[in-house]
Amino acid sequence: MFYSAGISARVMMTDLNTPFKALRVHQVEKTTVARFDEITLADLSAGQVVIRVAYSCVNYKDALAVTGKGKIMRGFPKVAGIDLSGIVVSSEVPDYAPGDAVLVTGSNIGEITDGAYAEYARVPAEAVVPLPAGLNLREAMALGTAGFTAALALRRMLDNHQTPELGTIAITGATGGVGAIAVNLFKQTGFQVAAITGKPGSEDFLRKLGADEIIDRKTLDLGSKPLETARWGGAVDNLGGETLAYLTRTVRPWGNIGAIGLAQSPTLNTTVIPFILRGVSLLGIYSIDLPRSWRLGLWQRLASDWKPSGLTSLIAPHTISLEEIPAHCEKLIAGQAKGRAVVRIGTDL
Ligand SMILES: NC(=O)c1ccc[n+]([C@@H]2O[C@H](COP(=O)([O-])OP(=O)(O)OC[C@H]3O[C@@H](n4cnc5c(N)ncnc54)[C@H](OP(=O)(O)O)[C@@H]3O)[C@@H](O)[C@H]2O)c1
Repeated sequence: MFYSAGISARVMMTDLNTPFKALRVHQVEKTTVARFDEITLADLSAGQVVIRVAYSCVNYKDALAVTGKGKIMRGFPKVAGIDLSGIVVSSEVPDYAPGDAVLVTGSNIGEITDGAYAEYARVPAEAVVPLPAGLNLREAMALGTAGFTAALALRRMLDNHQTPELGTIAITGATGGVGAIAVNLFKQTGFQVAAITGKPGSEDFLRKLGADEIIDRKTLDLGSKPLETARWGGAVDNLGGETLAYLTRTVRPWGNIGAIGLAQSPTLNTTVIPFILRGVSLLGIYSIDLPRSWRLGLWQRLASDWKPSGLTSLIAPHTISLEEIPAHCEKLIAGQAKGRAVVRIGTDL
């Protein structure tokens, strides 16, 4: 999508010395601290495409980086933020031209290279995805890495023969970014969905997203045998730990578990029994380095038949500012956030 000449003229009004605002993470002795800095393009890591950032969002990984609760970044200081959408200012490769609307998600920005929480970003060309028709710049960030990852889980599960006939899909961390989108996406793709949540009181939100069943995580009987009564057709797991172990014991024969996250724990204590006696598959879902054709294909689906029906009305109805990111990150780490926070950065775009 090409934006109007007025917008492209505005986004080009910068040079190497023009200062702009960025949320950067610094290393201070053995810990890290996030703060707002005035930087210039000359401070950013190398890349072929300079983008005027319109929107970003807050993922769990961003919250770990900004609060210092997790080791996400390599090298400091670094602009945080793993996802962005915006308008190309300049490009050293012919694929992109000033004025092009683009998005970047989970391609090591905000981790290895400078990221999205700034008015401008400079990124490697291979990380850039043309904004697909069917999504605007805000919707792209309402989805962000969370939406992309939920779609990747759906694709991997379908590729491994997951069908609605196998039974209900259990989705853990259901009110979080990935979880809420997964509930909406799997439901509209024809699956029955059970939302497993630690937030009592989120029933209305989850029902509107499409959950057929809502389960308070704390009331789940996790069991301990290698195989418990088979209850789920498949699962999308954002938690890891004992919740993921429970899912391995309770998914029906030939069902798939998309292992996405570790919000509860990175450990997994289970046995091989579910895999060899029920044919259960544990599918790794990794949204950062993947074949470019997969990335482009999934974004096309997210912009068309897989676009979550509740994306702006339910999942990401609110927009926060760059300045509000640190407080929102604290909320995410405390497990108190619901859905997705979109961050408005280039307010004139
Ligand atoms: N593999 C990948 O490529 C990839 C991509 C994106 C995200 N992830 C991972 O996926 C997970 C979810 O990411 P997100 O961006 O959706 O995060 P999020 O918005 O913070 O959602 C996480 C959800 O998990 C639940 N939760 C949080 N802390 C918990 C705890 N201590 N114990 C049990 N449940 C807890 C909460 O949901 P309820 O209150 O509803 O239970 C929370 O809303 C994270 O671990 C993230 O790192 C992985």
